[in-house]
Amino acid sequence: MSDEVLVEISDLKVHFPIKHGVVFDRTIGHVYAVDGVDLTIHKGETYGLVGESGCGKSTLGRAMLRLTEPTSGSVVFDGTDVAKLKGETLRKARRRMQMIFQDPLSSLDPRQSVESILVEGMRAHGLDKDKESTAKRLRELLAAVGLPESSLRKYPHEFSGGQRQRIGIARALAVEPDLIVADEPVSALDVSVQAQVVNLLEELQDNLGLTYLVIAHDLAVVRHISDRIGVMYLGSLVEEADSDALYEQPLHPYTKALLSAIPVPDPVVEDSREQILLAGDLPSPANPPNGCRFHTRCPWKQETRCDTERPALREVEGAAPGQRVACHWAEDIRDGKIKPHEVKPELVETGALNPDVPHVASVVEAMES
Ligand SMILES: Nc1ncnc2c1ncn2[C@@H]1O[C@H](COP(=O)(O)OP(=O)(O)OP(=O)(O)O)[C@@H](O)[C@H]1O
Ligand code: SF4
Ligand SMILES: [Mg+2]
Repeated sequence: MSDEVLVEISDLKVHFPIKHGVVFDRTIGHVYAVDGVDLTIHKGETYGLVGESGCGKSTLGRAMLRLTEPTSGSVVFDGTDVAKLKGETLRKARRRMQMIFQDPLSSLDPRQSVESILVEGMRAHGLDKDKESTAKRLRELLAAVGLPESSLRKYPHEFSGGQRQRIGIARALAVEPDLIVADEPVSALDVSVQAQVVNLLEELQDNLGLTYLVIAHDLAVVRHISDRIGVMYLGSLVEEADSDALYEQPLHPYTKALLSAIPVPDPVVEDSREQILLAGDLPSPANPPNGCRFHTRCPWKQETRCDTERPALREVEGAAPGQRVACHWAEDIRDGKIKPHEVKPELVETGALNPDVPHVASVVEAMES
């Protein structure tokens, strides 16, 4: 990993309007899917982004590649503000940023052979120059992801889940990207296959010098591959640190809770392990709590500041270099000056909206409130 910055995201916001009414189509509110994220990714680095379902991880990834239009803020990719790109320059930048999806089956067109899936992207970016060099490139791509050459004539349904994800990876690699956003790349796969795909991603990174943003809802998945990890809660980062530092000394109450939910293989440690159970559900991103967004579930919540002042992501004295935390009381919690207490869940609008039918879900929710 170098110190050279590849992506710099500043105060990025993505607010989806909630519409109501057939004739007038009034906007009656917003889903604050991403609500003020600052994040830097270095060349050759793997940045892991974790958080519960609905906290805005995919939206952040998509806004980074401008597959979703940001509401405000900036994404600077290799020195260029992505929001300002249009037409040909946007197309060129897109080649350098690719995405791998959670469900390889639904992200691959079932009517296209593997060959046509791979050539399609190359063609769109003028990389399909002549038959011979394209054939050579296809062989290289299959070898890189560990699939036999005979795969070219087959269709997505003829493969297993893990093999399909390899096709998705080959498709991303086909256009020679610098950055790959992998959105839950292994969560649809069997555990035994997950490790193979993760190893493949690491190997490709070493060989090709790729930079990754890996999205997962599970800290265990990103731990081994990430150099740094950002923990997201309701549209913003609550903690960011080097991967080891985050596991050794998590400072944000939400990170502590996420980590305490991962079982430890050692039975002695496992028995004495203290689990932090979070009360209540994730509040709706259409109606996020005031102040610290985590205050409705935080076992360390204090009478002052927590429910009125939104904490900034800041460095904490004595923390690991580069570790940043969005909690007013991080020092006191770490030093044991503040003890956790039982949390009675506050009444909040519950339930992350179903990301599959976001529009309908948010409308229904807004009408009920
Ligand atoms: N196009 C859209 N229109 C309206 N709301 C949307 C849209 N896309 C996402 N949302 C909403 O934004 C919020 C964040 O969604 P997002 O998919 O980014 O979460 P996520 O962290 O990736 O969740 P998951 O782990 O389930 O994939 C959700 O409440 C979702 O319903
Ligand atoms: S600011 Fe308050 S509510 Fe938020 S994480 Fe810190 S202690 Fe908990
Ligand atoms: Mg997602």
